Amino acid sequence: MINFEDITPENWEKWKEPVLRSELIFPESLRSTEEEFRVTLDTPSNIAKIIRLDGRYIGNAFGCGAVHFDFYRQSRQAVCAEEIHINNIVIEPPYQGHGHGTRLLQEFMGEARRKGYKKLIGFFRPNHSLRLVRKLDCVEKSVHPDWFGTGEDYVFCEIDLSVKYFKKLKAV
Ligand SMILES: CC(C)(COP(=O)(O)OP(=O)(O)OC[C@H]1O[C@@H](n2cnc3c(N)ncnc32)[C@H](O)[C@@H]1OP(=O)(O)O)[C@@H](O)C(=O)NCCC(=O)NCCS
Repeated sequence: MINFEDITPENWEKWKEPVLRSELIFPESLRSTEEEFRVTLDTPSNIAKIIRLDGRYIGNAFGCGAVHFDFYRQSRQAVCAEEIHINNIVIEPPYQGHGHGTRLLQEFMGEARRKGYKKLIGFFRPNHSLRLVRKLDCVEKSVHPDWFGTGEDYVFCEIDLSVKYFKKLKAV
């Protein structure tokens, strides 16, 4: 059975080991530090979730209100309080390709909508992550060559969180 849990400052000790380990999937220039995760958790308008399969941790997703996100500031002139930036979404390698990333992103989007955000934004790798958001009708706004020296061209995408869109999403 799949379920989700919010990560909070109170339960961070319980989840920090798998969350920090999941960062090793990314090149060093992109990895978040424990300090950065803690800062994210300290702001209630941010979102941090884990996904569990039969009680076992299999992945996480973190996002910040766009006004708090530094990469975002570097990439666009304006910031908007109605946008949530997804910083990270990871599924443990043995569990990838079974729809768990899609479920986690949908859960994240539902939470974002409940918190009043109108749009989800993020920079997505040209791997399963871009494929994932393409399935959810993202709008691809710009390509960022060699993102932070990774050798990969990340794509900046937006996903509408409006009610109309959400009705459609439920059927995915
Ligand atoms: C990106 C990620 C979170 C997606 O999670 P996931 O559980 O693997 O994704 P899903 O199973 O929901 O599938 C999403 C899409 O990717 C495809 N996909 C996932 N794993 C795949 C694999 N190993 N081979 C081929 N396609 C794969 C799926 O087929 C699906 O597309 P489709 O429905 O059109 O076929 C996960 O692959 C991951 O953690 N990757 C490494 C970290 C990363 O790059 N995070 C994104 C940072 S921007």
